[in-house]
Amino acid sequence: LNQRPISVWRYKEFLPVRIEPVTLQEGGTPLYHLKKIGEELGLPNLYAKHEGMNPSGSFKDRGMTLGVSMAKQLGKNIVACASTGNTSASMAVYAAKAGMPSVVLLPAGHVALGKVAQALMHGAKVISIRGNFDRALEMVHELCVSHGIYLLNSINPYRLEGQKTIGFEAVDQLGCVPDRIVLPVGNAGNISAVYKGLCEWRDVGFIDTLPMMTAIQAEGAMPVVNAIKGNLPEVVVEQNPETVASAIRIGAPVNAEKALRAIRETKGTAESVTDAEILAMQRDLARYEGIGVEPASAASVAGIRKLAEQGMLDPSEKIVCVVTGHLLKDPETVIKQCAPPIEIDPTIEALLSVL
Ligand code: F0G
Repeated sequence: LNQRPISVWRYKEFLPVRIEPVTLQEGGTPLYHLKKIGEELGLPNLYAKHEGMNPSGSFKDRGMTLGVSMAKQLGKNIVACASTGNTSASMAVYAAKAGMPSVVLLPAGHVALGKVAQALMHGAKVISIRGNFDRALEMVHELCVSHGIYLLNSINPYRLEGQKTIGFEAVDQLGCVPDRIVLPVGNAGNISAVYKGLCEWRDVGFIDTLPMMTAIQAEGAMPVVNAIKGNLPEVVVEQNPETVASAIRIGAPVNAEKALRAIRETKGTAESVTDAEILAMQRDLARYEGIGVEPASAASVAGIRKLAEQGMLDPSEKIVCVVTGHLLKDPETVIKQCAPPIEIDPTIEALLSVL
């Protein structure tokens, strides 16, 4: 294994694809030591796995290289998904690579600009629904069942097969199993995927412990957190999810059952963060660590800040926060937070006067 470059396909024996895969060299993302934020929180072993460094700028590429390859293997001609943005961008990219038409359903007015731009430019048929993501998912599901279109949301188990490689890479890059893996949770596919992969590695004897799976949600969309904290057998759907982290603005996570199992069986936890806490961490990652992520991604590290402040973490823990998407996905939220550039006359005097 060590002779292969670190990427999704390094782990091909753990993946179900039996044809030449549709790939753009996804995975192999950097694992950064969060030195300054770790110091602030008294956590010297705090890391971020920057999934924004994938070809389309999010972790979804790991699932889509699998999903679109499987679509090909199964002889499917058209792919579709509902999305808060990243899934659609990634699906459009891999469908383009495969030469397959793709259909995308988005919640109107709630998808970050960069993501819509990607889906459009890569040639997906992009449709905005006057409803939220949960409704868009119901609709695309119905469309796919009735018209034989291949559904590429994370209900599709092959998506999760690809995404489980995040956990493999984290272990390989760290050189050991982290004590905790922290993920922002929306539809709850990614946390379930990472858990599944590491269970497989435990079962074949590659590793002998599992990390505490830790879910972070936005306060305005936290059905998984409520189920964990309330010790409920299943999540209670939220009708009107709302958060600045549009990627995780989801009230009815389709993989909730798997996620609850992942958290409970690893003695992990779930916590919520406010929009203000998310945006503060997005800025801190950018300014102190040089890591540019979109708001949903900052939620994982914001959650660790909150858990650390509550005294819930052992300072010796090796913690890997998955930061899921790139800063450039959502420029509008950034521009709203930062002071605009200073415009001046084109003279040195004017320049010096503002510096
Ligand atoms: N972070 C980002 C940047 C995302 O785009 C998503 C999900 C998540 C975290 C949560 O992952 O759903 O597996 O729990 N985005 C989906 C989409 C819903 O349509 O792009 P999850």
